[in-house]
Amino acid sequence: MLHVYERLLSIEERLRAGRFVFPILAKRFIAAHGRLRQILGERLGLGPASLNFMTNAYGKPELIDRQVHFSLSHSGDLAALAVAAFPIGLDIEIMRPVSRDLPDRYFSAIERDGLRALHGETWREAFFRCWTRKEAVIKALGMGLAFPLADFDVSFGNDEAAALTRLAGAPMAATEWQVHHIDVSSDCVGAIAAAQTGWSVTRHSG
Ligand SMILES: CC(C)(COP(=O)(O)OP(=O)(O)OC[C@H]1O[C@@H](n2cnc3c(N)ncnc32)[C@H](O)[C@@H]1OP(=O)(O)O)[C@@H](O)C(=O)NCCC(=O)NCCS
Repeated sequence: MLHVYERLLSIEERLRAGRFVFPILAKRFIAAHGRLRQILGERLGLGPASLNFMTNAYGKPELIDRQVHFSLSHSGDLAALAVAAFPIGLDIEIMRPVSRDLPDRYFSAIERDGLRALHGETWREAFFRCWTRKEAVIKALGMGLAFPLADFDVSFGNDEAAALTRLAGAPMAATEWQVHHIDVSSDCVGAIAAAQTGWSVTRHSG
């Protein structure tokens, strides 16, 4: 199957794949980008190899004529793609063991305080809900880590709906944004975010 995906890639994508030191990473890249081309091609009724991409100033890939928007995320040997009619951000993370001081480096004051009260598995699951929601928001904004992660808050409690609850400089953001939680597998969670309301998630796998 990999050779099928490889044939769909642009020269730039093949060069990127060739730069990975570890073959497994090159294979994951080829599979993810080949499948991405197939999915977007099916959606647009175009040949997957004919799609043209560009990246914004922060590295976010987009279709040149933006007929649809998408967001790609990898974690381990899993990859996920969100496709929408508006800018969207997706992040998935396998819930590996992480250091308890990570929130101090990346999260907002309210998120750090909320997480400090949690322990063990409850803390780890809340941490990954928070992480994936924050990554989904910055990927929807298209700015990656150039957007300060402490400048917005997301929900992360087990009994709370996924949400963006504060975005610096955007007082209406909590009502203008929608965030969805995704259980990818028993040890992998994700989030999809957009500065748009009234949408829902339809999942496909394969
Ligand atoms: C690049 C970044 C946007 C996402 O990185 P990530 O979560 O490690 O990786 P993901 O697999 O979820 O996303 C990578 C994909 O996002 C896309 N992407 C790259 N830059 C992007 C940007 N500025 N905005 C949106 N999407 C972007 C690309 O499709 C990329 O896949 P590709 O390299 O195969 O083309 C950025 O947020 C980052 O570097 N994060 C580091 C993780 C971290 O330290 N997080 C802190 C805790 S919240």
